[in-house]
Formats: sequence, structure tokens, C-alpha cells
Amino acid sequence: MTSSPLQLDTLAVHAGREDLTELGVHAPPIDLSSTYPLPDIEAGGLSYEAMATGGAPTPDGGAVYARLWNPTVARFESALAVMEHAEAAVAFSSGMAALTAAVLAALKETGHRHVLAVRPLYGGTDHLLESGLLGAEVTFCSPAEVAAAVRPDTAMVVLETPANPTLDLVDVRAVVEAAGGVPVLVDNTFATPVLQNPLDLGASMVLHSATKYLGGHGDVIAGVIACGQQEAAALRRVRAVTGALLHPLGAYLLHRGLATLPVRVRTQQANAQRVAAWLATHPAVARVYYPGLADDPQDLLGRQMRGTGAMLSIDLRGGYEQAVRVTSAVRLFTHAVSLGGVDSLIQHPAALTHRPVPPEARPAASLLRLSIGLEDHEDLMADLDRALAAHRPAPTTPTPSHA
Ligand SMILES: Cc1ncc(COP(=O)(O)O)c(C=O)c1O
Repeated sequence: MTSSPLQLDTLAVHAGREDLTELGVHAPPIDLSSTYPLPDIEAGGLSYEAMATGGAPTPDGGAVYARLWNPTVARFESALAVMEHAEAAVAFSSGMAALTAAVLAALKETGHRHVLAVRPLYGGTDHLLESGLLGAEVTFCSPAEVAAAVRPDTAMVVLETPANPTLDLVDVRAVVEAAGGVPVLVDNTFATPVLQNPLDLGASMVLHSATKYLGGHGDVIAGVIACGQQEAAALRRVRAVTGALLHPLGAYLLHRGLATLPVRVRTQQANAQRVAAWLATHPAVARVYYPGLADDPQDLLGRQMRGTGAMLSIDLRGGYEQAVRVTSAVRLFTHAVSLGGVDSLIQHPAALTHRPVPPEARPAASLLRLSIGLEDHEDLMADLDRALAAHRPAPTTPTPSHA
């Protein structure tokens, strides 16, 4: 045995499990308590105070109340933090709850009101930021416009890479530099820590919709932010008062999911590479959006991202009507939103995930997004080939506004 730092595959299996042997168990325990016995008023009160101000429970006082802290959630957080090269992580009941907390914490900590959002973003992210619900004044811009759009009162910059659904790669280092000291939050949902670690590129926070690859089996809704201790304390303060803690059963499943994350992501990526290359030659497909197939003048593949991932989008010849046919003709792919699970999904971003996005930033009506799973790639291609050749009449419903 060497004393060199452990590799990601080892950390994925062992992180957050360091005390299990001491506890005399092999699987992490699930603590479902909503409240905890108090040793005495003073010790309980001091622990409550420590957690309400963003810290951990005191050893003497215990966890007090599960909206403030849960040990099963804390295990998942510590494992994810290690994998993202972060000091800490804070888990939430959804990716959107995590983003909400990040924005509220940034506004509160800086006293500023301005947020810079780099498009394209996941539709829900775009919608939340655009809605004004969080009290922020939001400017949307392209990566190249960040330097000009950043203001003295900018509290944070939000970006996503690879972006959803175009799979554009955004240069994290360049945006961090252009932000000039303003904290940058990177949504790393598509890449996962297996393929990219935004904190190493200068970002201040990494957000995951843990619903996707981290869980990997389509049975948990969750979000998590990996960051420094100071940011984590601010996020926990928001989480405690807004009540957005992840449920411990979800945390258990996510922690279990992390153990297979590297294996799943690499195998799904190998499948996606084959499917993307094949789709690029398919007569029914006008264009494939996939990092390995796009121009990459800044060499972001390799310099920033250690692989091409398992998400891709296709622009269909035949527009919206063909998208309707394809999504109803697939058999192995499930026509469903979400992504990153072991089974392959296909969906129409303009009608679904990106429906709330303003028309000028909405994906084309001819675009379908595919999340490639762990099935045999030949079976996936056969399913798509059959669906792409389908010429069944489209439903007679009126053409909607996004078409
Ligand atoms: C890239 C990305 N970020 C954030 C979210 C929001 O996460 P959740 O659905 O877990 O709230 C999603 C959901 O699809 C997503 O795809």
C-alpha cells in the first residue's frame, strides 16, 4: 500500500464509510428520526445554535431536530465532497432547492442583488432565475459576454457545462477570470465528478441535480452543492430555515449510487460515443450535438472535461412532426424527461424541460435530447433506427406554440 491520495474509483466505494467497521456494520445505517432526545436543555440549545448558524451538531448536544441535520445525509455529503475535491457539501431535497439556496445565500452574504446567468441553462434554472421569485435582478448572457455584464453589485455567476440541451462546453476558467472575483457556481450535473471537477478550475460552488447520474437509477429527487466550508455554512443556514433538507432514504440511495458512479458513467459514455457516431451518419438526422463531435477550438475536452459524457441531442430532418413520431415509436428508450440513469431516455426539450424558457433562448422544435444508459449499444441503435424510419401520422392535436 502507498500513502498517495486515493483514486476516484476507490473514493467512490469507500468515502463516507470510514466509521462503519467501528460501528460493527457493513452498510451505512439509515437514521429516520425526525427529532432527537436532548441530553439537557443547555447542551441541546448550544447544539441547536451551532446548526442554525451553519455548523455541525455539538458532540454533547446531538442533532436536536432533523430539519437541521441528519447523519445519513451527512455521510452522502462527505462522500460527494471528497469526489468533487471540496471541503464540504450540502444536500437538498432537489436540484432546484439547491439552486434556490445558493442564490439566496449569495444575496444574503454579499448584500448584492445582481446575478449573472450564462445561457444556455437547464429550463428550470432559467425559469427560476427569470421569475424574479428569489429577489435577484438577473442578467442573462453568453460566456463571451460575462466580463462586460459583471457589475460591482453582482453576487454570483451561474453556468452549466456541458450545457443543456446543446451540450456546448463552456470554458470554466475563462468565465471565472471574466467574473473577476465574483463567485461562480457551475452546474456539473451532466459531467459528474468522474469527468470534471469545476472547483479545480476556479469555480466556487459545484451544483448537481443528484436526481440524475449521482443516484443513477431514476428513484431519487435530490440536489447537492460542493463548496468551501464558508459557503457550506451559508447554505446550511438557508436550508435550515427554508426546510429543504434531503430525506435520509434519498441520501442512502445516493450514497449507494456513488459507489458505481465511475463505472456507470464510463460505460454509458462508451455507449453514447458509439450511438452519436452512428447517428451522425443517419439520413434522418441533420445534426448531432455531442462534445466529441463538435468543434473544440479551446481544447476543453482534455483540458477541462475528461471525457465526452453520455448525453447527446439530435436535430431531426422533418422537424416537430418527426419528433412526435420518433418519441412515440421508440420501445427500448423511454419517452421521459430526466437523465443520467441506467436506462436510456429520450425527450423533446422545447416542449418539456425547456418549455418555460423565453422563445429566443428555447431549443429548436426539431431537437430531441437523449440520455444514453447501460443497455447494449447495438440494441439502442436498432431501437432508434426503427423509430427514425417510422412514418406513422402525427396525432391530430393542434400544433403547439413551441413547434
Ligand atoms: C442540468 C440540470 N440542473 C438542475 C436540474 C434541476 O434538478 P432537480 O430536477 O433535481 O430539481 C436539472 C433537472 O433536470 C438539470 O438537468
